[in-house]
Amino acid sequence: EKSEQDALKKAAGIEAAKLIENDMVAGLGTGSTVKFFVDELGRRVKEEGLHFTGVTTSNRTKAQAESFGIKIVDIDEVSHIDVTVDGADEVDQHFNGIKGGGAALLWEKIVATNSEKIVWIVDESKVVDTIGRFPLPVEVIPFGVQHVITRFKNRGYEPTLRVDAEGTPIRTDEKNFIVDLHMNRIDHPQDLAEDLITTVGVVEHGLFLNMVNTVIVGDPRGPRVLTN
Ligand code: A5P
Repeated sequence: EKSEQDALKKAAGIEAAKLIENDMVAGLGTGSTVKFFVDELGRRVKEEGLHFTGVTTSNRTKAQAESFGIKIVDIDEVSHIDVTVDGADEVDQHFNGIKGGGAALLWEKIVATNSEKIVWIVDESKVVDTIGRFPLPVEVIPFGVQHVITRFKNRGYEPTLRVDAEGTPIRTDEKNFIVDLHMNRIDHPQDLAEDLITTVGVVEHGLFLNMVNTVIVGDPRGPRVLTN
């Protein structure tokens, strides 16, 4: 079941790698699906002499890309990003979704916001009617985090602070905490997004709304490319 899912993720990643052309600036996302995408870019660099510049959304992806000799620059060194390819935790039929399962949502959203085109690669299990079964990650400043959690509890958002196996709060690449909201279904994502981003102490949330242009779904019959 796991290897079947991996095969679908890999197929989506390989399909997305076709979108990267010579001399482009490409945003490279984060996660297990993107890992297959970056593997394929590494292969193309080595075997086809593909040359492009990458901007990464996490230190993890940066290390993987650089291990393949892909040129990675800081986001502030480029004036534009042609296309960003990233994974997602859930996506609905309007291409709205949840990201941040891997805690990289802040840099992911900054890179996405500055990209001309955004492509998500997912296996079919991520495609849902209504988002929210996947706990919504919210990046919060450590100072006063318990008060933010209390506010979320009072609003009925079912928050939990994300911790590692030892019970220590995990830290993002920006050294912040992640609070996951177990809402089960999010019927009004725009209203929720507004509420979260105006809560003091919140840096960013994992709702990506009206941003995505293309979703590539790994499907047993071959990757499906959906465009809106
Ligand atoms: C990282 O923070 C996330 O937004 C990932 O992009 C998302 O969790 C998808 O990861 P997988 O491809 O590993 O499911």
